[in-house]
Amino acid sequence: MQDKNKELDQQLKELAEYESALTSVQRFAADPERFKRLSCTLGDNWLFDFSKQSISPQALSLLCDWARSQRLEPQITQLFSDNQLNNTEKRAVLHTALRMPANAHLEHNGKNVIPDVQRVLSQMRNFCAQVHSGQWRGITGKPISHIVNIGIGGSDLGPAMVVRALRAYQQQSVQVQFVSNMDGADLTAVLAGLDPEQTLFIVSSKTFTTAETLTNALSAKRWLLERLSDGEETESQTVSHHFVAVTSNVSAAVNFGVAPDNCFEFWDWVGGRFSLWSAVGLSIALAIGFEQFEQLLQGAYLADCHLRDTPLEQNVPVLMALFTHWNSRYLNLNTEAIFPYSQDMALFADYLQQLGMESNGKSVDRQGEKITEPTCPLMWGAVGSNGQHAFFQLFHQGSHVIAADFIGFVQPNDDFPEHQTKLLANLFAQTAALAFGRSRSQVEAELSAQGLTVAEIAELAPYMVMDGNRPSTTLLCKRITPYSLGTLLALYEHKTAILGMLWNINSFDQWGVELGKKLAIPIAKELATGIPSHQHDASTNGLIDQACAWAKR
Ligand code: F6P
Repeated sequence: MQDKNKELDQQLKELAEYESALTSVQRFAADPERFKRLSCTLGDNWLFDFSKQSISPQALSLLCDWARSQRLEPQITQLFSDNQLNNTEKRAVLHTALRMPANAHLEHNGKNVIPDVQRVLSQMRNFCAQVHSGQWRGITGKPISHIVNIGIGGSDLGPAMVVRALRAYQQQSVQVQFVSNMDGADLTAVLAGLDPEQTLFIVSSKTFTTAETLTNALSAKRWLLERLSDGEETESQTVSHHFVAVTSNVSAAVNFGVAPDNCFEFWDWVGGRFSLWSAVGLSIALAIGFEQFEQLLQGAYLADCHLRDTPLEQNVPVLMALFTHWNSRYLNLNTEAIFPYSQDMALFADYLQQLGMESNGKSVDRQGEKITEPTCPLMWGAVGSNGQHAFFQLFHQGSHVIAADFIGFVQPNDDFPEHQTKLLANLFAQTAALAFGRSRSQVEAELSAQGLTVAEIAELAPYMVMDGNRPSTTLLCKRITPYSLGTLLALYEHKTAILGMLWNINSFDQWGVELGKKLAIPIAKELATGIPSHQHDASTNGLIDQACAWAKR
């Protein structure tokens, strides 16, 4: 850290020591304007309430000074211009180009990338039109009714989450499903009941080398050919009617058998977990229609412009990142939960786990030095109000304090508005209970009003006291639409990148996932042949022996 940084960091530490002794009740009592001071809106759809974070406006302003001393502003500018932010893979990070308007100009290696982005978008538009109109036909002449996206990680989580979140916008003519796990049960469940004549597979893989995706894609191809092809001569014709690929490795997709015209390209400057805006979003566009996919891009563009043009103090993704930093570094909270109060957002936490934890779950900095301070918190979540009836007990009274984001939607996309009102009431109530808790005197007054004796009150009261001071942010949205969702997702992407900038981490590589993949290769051979090599550690050898023995029976 530079001297200025260190000084600000020290001041923040001292402030945090003082502030962590304050309660939310005290914070709100001391400042009746706290909600106004610590909340803001973005566009017509979003309100962000940060007032239930355990922080003072003074500490927040110091955090912004610290972020400036970390050179955050020029680093943000880099996200919108040619850069080498992914230094270990020697790649640029330019996913913001994917949602820029057609007349924008963004040079990478001396070439404007926007025409390429627009070319692939038109390819997607034409393809969607063909599939939706029934003009695209399977090998036997029938229109496509079912689409299966085969991919994993960034080639699955984002699109699967968005398709689920926007199911109210579903195109009636096609059903989109996702297969990711190499567990054959996943593919089996999706293929069950599908008519091969009307099924189209999207093989989505940036590298086109990922074991799970290739395993599933090969099995899907076999399933299809066994049912539709009557000999080797017709195989490639059949595949070209039923398989398309989304990849930055077009030659590998063509080797797999996908026709070159059926390949949708994206580029190495799009990270997998930031890729749903690229051709990786083809499954989204097919599910909700290309115009709605464009709305998603435009919603993201709103967040991009906001990030680029707004001072740190009012910049939503910057503030989101600073609260995570404050909570983990100064308040020692190393867990962050995400609770969308929306069944449509059931896959949101899964998506966010990859975005946050694969990006910033690292402890070596950009210069290769070990980082000793906490970095990415553990991220997890579930939909509300279900979580309230499962694990919220720990959340309210357990020994861990967990920081949380609550996401709520005012207008429903269904025909049961009274459900939405109750759902939202629960969200608001939970954040209040977490922040303000219930004091001993409040409990005693409540029990006394219920007619309990003094002895009964003394016995029960300790169990009913709730400390409060559990920090949360509420993200309140008018309604889930492609546009509002696009804004939300881009905000979380930016929060993730900003945390990396603040912690001096490369958020765009993922070396930690490589070792396990490599070790699996020889083990898979041993399991497939049933011949253990006994070349591993004792535990792994023992497990392989047992698996081989059981596999024979
Ligand atoms: O193994 C991790 C990872 O590389 C992710 O970063 C990526 O999103 C996922 O695998 C899938 O990769 P691909 O799109 O290349 O198949």
